Amino acid sequence: MRLNEQPLLTAAQIEARIAEIAREISDRYAGRDPVLVAVLKGAAIFAADLMRRLTVPACLDFIRARSYAGTESQGRVRITFLPEHSLEGRHVIVVEDILDTGRTTSAVLDCIRQQNPASLVLCTLLDKPARRVVPVKADYTGFRIDNLFVVGYGLDYDERYRHFPDIRTLEE
Ligand code: XMP
Ligand code: MG
Repeated sequence: MRLNEQPLLTAAQIEARIAEIAREISDRYAGRDPVLVAVLKGAAIFAADLMRRLTVPACLDFIRARSYAGTESQGRVRITFLPEHSLEGRHVIVVEDILDTGRTTSAVLDCIRQQNPASLVLCTLLDKPARRVVPVKADYTGFRIDNLFVVGYGLDYDERYRHFPDIRTLEE
């Protein structure tokens, strides 16, 4: 695998887009206290930056779903870590790093729906619509990207590259 030195999305682009999304979310949830449920591990960095831009008193929780080995989807999704707090009656915002086939996110959304939240929306930093197998639509999307494997800003290739402040592509 070859890592492109040239970012697909620079740290400045990411920061500016997150500020826009945070304004939209803050407007929509004015007077409420939503719960951000970040999908571990990839969305941890996005959720941290998004949360700091919100002007509503949001709570933070986490869920973990596993489906990937290397760059290949195994097609199966296991929820291996659940939010600590009850989501019943809460306004839940699921925070994802990337929507790819949609399998992971749809399993996460199904799992959270079982807890009867008052409302449920999906906020993803990246969307690769060309790869969708399960129909999932995000309410907030940072960037739509082509069918490329990307790393950085929380996204990894076998646990590497999450620390990059920008997003870069990996090529065969
Ligand atoms: P699905 O296919 O279930 O996949 O929507 C979502 C999960 O797959 C991982 N994924 C990626 N990780 N670069 C990554 O570092 C990518 O381009 C990529 N595409 C999918 C990711 O964990 C995501 O939550
Ligand atoms: Mg992930």
